[in-house]
Amino acid sequence: MKSRSLSLVLVPLLFLLPVLRAGPGCAPCDPAQCAPLPAEGCPAGSLRDICGCCAVCAAAEGELCGGRRAAARRCGSGLECVRSDDDKKSKTGVCACKSTYEVCGTDGTTYRNGCALKTASMAAQKEGGEAISIQNKGRCASAPIIVTPPGQVYNVSGSQVYLSCEAVGVPTPVLTWRKVLGGKRKAELLPGDRDNLAIQTRGGPEKHQVTGWVLISPLTEEEAGSYECHAANSKGEASATGAIHLVDSIDDIIVKTGMKEDEL
Ligand SMILES: *[C@@H]1O[C@H](CO)[C@@H](O)[C@H](O)[C@H]1NC(C)=O
Repeated sequence: MKSRSLSLVLVPLLFLLPVLRAGPGCAPCDPAQCAPLPAEGCPAGSLRDICGCCAVCAAAEGELCGGRRAAARRCGSGLECVRSDDDKKSKTGVCACKSTYEVCGTDGTTYRNGCALKTASMAAQKEGGEAISIQNKGRCASAPIIVTPPGQVYNVSGSQVYLSCEAVGVPTPVLTWRKVLGGKRKAELLPGDRDNLAIQTRGGPEKHQVTGWVLISPLTEEEAGSYECHAANSKGEASATGAIHLVDSIDDIIVKTGMKEDEL
């Protein structure tokens, strides 16, 4: 009996809440006076206005938020209103995503953060598609792609030459080099036992990217030929070939690689 009488007091109080929350400048709530939400929907979802009365579009990532009284705008869920120090007086800020890392969506697309995914999910649902949720933190896994294949290098016997190769993929690919042998012989995994040949690999320059080199010094007839750059990760593999050509004289050297020395 006691709990019943308590609810008799509490329930009417709940209905009063919006009115209690309503700050100065809020007229008594009349839902009929509320402007309708845009037909195309709200990119960052909707919420109650500052007076707790009408449904309004939440401010999306990058949009202004804060402000005074009835004109105040609030950020959508997952967003926070960030005010710059010099802007403290104006009380306005910009909505920024609480999460700052890339995420992979269940649609197989990488989003810059959770808010971008949420926006895409709402747009997809509006089109009658399925909601997108987070599959994993970080980028979506993808098979390697060779972004810069090894080129063609021409030089004389005894010179110092190199081939380079850049690949990207998620997880970051593992790079290997093979010398392509003619006929029925299998390609040889490098460096093998050659003491004038070195393989070098470095991460970058971009995220999930790897760059590798075959360095030869001194160049002999043995090393002339085709070289295959091979990139592999859990999602697949890719390869591209370049070649080293031995020429008789410096005058025959044609630089076709497009490689800049400072990239080494
Ligand atoms: C050719 O060899 C010379 C001498 O080792 C070297 O300085 C030059 O960079 C080489 N050129 C190419 C295109 O590899």
